[in-house]
Amino acid sequence: MQTEPTISKNIQLFREFVSYLRTLHIDNLEQKWITIAMVIIAFLVGIITVDALFHGINPPSKVETIDSASAHLSKEFAEDNLGVQRDENGKIIVRMVALRYSFIPKHLEIPAETPITFRWVSTDVLHGVNIPMTNMSTMIVPGYVAEVTTTFPKPGEYPLLCNEYCGLGHNHMWSTIAVIAKEDWVAKSTPAPSTLTK
Ligand code: CUA
Repeated sequence: MQTEPTISKNIQLFREFVSYLRTLHIDNLEQKWITIAMVIIAFLVGIITVDALFHGINPPSKVETIDSASAHLSKEFAEDNLGVQRDENGKIIVRMVALRYSFIPKHLEIPAETPITFRWVSTDVLHGVNIPMTNMSTMIVPGYVAEVTTTFPKPGEYPLLCNEYCGLGHNHMWSTIAVIAKEDWVAKSTPAPSTLTK
């Protein structure tokens, strides 16, 4: 195996780098500012670590993998399974596929003041999704399922835009979301197949 010589070589390089740093003259004031910067960095990394380990705050793509090339053939992201659905626990789940250059489905109707779990996959390149004036924003990394749960407080029409440059048609990549008052939504809770683009 090649790994061991590489590791010892890197340790050697690191030692040389440290001894080089020791020969540098660092002004007292500079040293103070370096210390302050290091303390701030350590503090921020500490917050991220505590959030990740104890509060379960992780990136939206929680390393749930999927084969992008065949995602549309999978059971979950097959065309007739996309859109708004209520699962057996009453949770509302929205499944969408991002591809150059659209989101499928093109239009969604969801209830206001209700937690909604979005699950996204990309079938080609890196896309993003952003719903302006809400906190719904995530990257859709090929090979991973991005999951975000959020609540829309106010009814209205919202655009749903791609916010990662994905090619020449990037600025035409969007869908719309109609957020409907909670009481009015229930009647139309089944996903309408007609809203799926072909
Ligand atoms: Cu998809 Cu930009």
